[in-house]
Amino acid sequence: MMAESKPGGGIPRRDFLKTTATVTAATMAGGLLSSGVWAQGDDKIRIALIGCGGRGCGAAANAAASAENVELYAMADLFQDHMDDKLPKMQEALGEQFNVTPERCFVGFDAYQRALATDANYVILATPPGFRPQHLRAAVEAGKHVFMEKPVAVCPTGVRHVIESGEMATAKSLGIMAGTQYRHHPCFLDLVKRVHDGQIGRITAAQSYYNTGTLWKHGRQESWTDLEWQIRNWLYFTWLAGDHIVEQAIHHIDTTNWFLNAWPVECVATGGRQLRTDPAYGHIYDHFSVDYLYPDGVKVTHMCRQMDNCENRLGEIIIGTDGVCDGMGGTITGKNAYTSPEKPGFQGIGVAYVREHGDLIDSIRAGRPLNEAREVALTCLTGIMARMAAYTGKKVTWEFALNESKLNLMKDITAFGDMPVDEVAAPGRTPLV
Ligand SMILES: NC(=O)c1ccc[n+]([C@@H]2O[C@H](COP(=O)([O-])OP(=O)(O)OC[C@H]3O[C@@H](n4cnc5c(N)ncnc54)[C@H](O)[C@@H]3O)[C@@H](O)[C@H]2O)c1
Repeated sequence: MMAESKPGGGIPRRDFLKTTATVTAATMAGGLLSSGVWAQGDDKIRIALIGCGGRGCGAAANAAASAENVELYAMADLFQDHMDDKLPKMQEALGEQFNVTPERCFVGFDAYQRALATDANYVILATPPGFRPQHLRAAVEAGKHVFMEKPVAVCPTGVRHVIESGEMATAKSLGIMAGTQYRHHPCFLDLVKRVHDGQIGRITAAQSYYNTGTLWKHGRQESWTDLEWQIRNWLYFTWLAGDHIVEQAIHHIDTTNWFLNAWPVECVATGGRQLRTDPAYGHIYDHFSVDYLYPDGVKVTHMCRQMDNCENRLGEIIIGTDGVCDGMGGTITGKNAYTSPEKPGFQGIGVAYVREHGDLIDSIRAGRPLNEAREVALTCLTGIMARMAAYTGKKVTWEFALNESKLNLMKDITAFGDMPVDEVAAPGRTPLV
């Protein structure tokens, strides 16, 4: 499996062992261990990991490194071979923090339900995002605190579902944290505060990028049904991943929303499938370009690309009347020129991956659980509306995407079988629904 390319040098996305080593060092260096006030007694965080892939296992290791009295308690995955691969690796990586017994290892479409029926009190949702809304709802109904990887929905109906689950969680005093890790990244926290304090004046425009290389793909095996092939190659199917503008580029779409403290009003977008034309790559696009309009006439452009041997660029540039903030670069130029002392971009990301769990666990132990469900759902909608605009060739308004769109890509699947592949979207022909 090929790791996601990370320009600037970062943590290979699907290599959880390396991630563990990096974040453990980062944690020690940054003194991020929880205060330990609640470290004794019955406040143990018992994690149920649902989706034992690269990031799920990485997130479990990050959570274990983020606070005291945390253990991995249950594991659930759709595929036995994935479980067999990851189980011993997690045991080795976590040592005494590994407390998964054979009775708390679950495989199959109902594995998540069986993991939720255990005594785990903290659930990590890290399956392909197409399953996220249903899994989140089940976790909240089961009374668990949730850490859920981004994206959290791939269609407007899923976004609304997640927002509703977030409200249910609030009513039950449950915490929900999302894997949009830059919101816990010391350098970003420093810069966003400065921008919100007016250091670059009034924001007039922004640019964001997620131009990167291609990702992994698994060749089809004869024994696989259509559905198994799609789920094992989930990146390439919009109902499972949301397309790469939602699955990957969402990080810098999210940071831009955060810097601007706003959601877009409308967008137009283009995109296509220029190089990745083989049906082995499902039906997603390989590039997008978006013009967003934000409140007060603020213009935001975004582009993303998954192509090899091209210039990679990830990040966001926020333009104000008095200066420019480069989020990934960690700098402000202009009237109040500033270089953050915190490690910028990928250099600081290991800390962020741990801190997102530490922040949630601290809030749970303090009795004031954080809940990011609405925020991250709306960030996902920001990517989804651009994908809808690119697929259809139509302008998409926030009002339409949030409140009127009937697009529902969620599927209630209980067994492997046939699953037709959606046609590649064709602007001007694919309807906006
Ligand atoms: N925050 C980040 O930087 C970051 C980085 C990588 C991935 N992610 C996100 O994490 C999620 C997982 O990505 P990954 O790279 O670990 O993918 P992966 O393919 O390595 O792992 C997904 C796992 O989920 C399992 N799975 C699939 N359907 C399931 C189901 N219905 N029930 C239970 N298990 C199921 C798969 O068998 C697999 O083991 C995605 O949403 C992805 O976008 C976030």
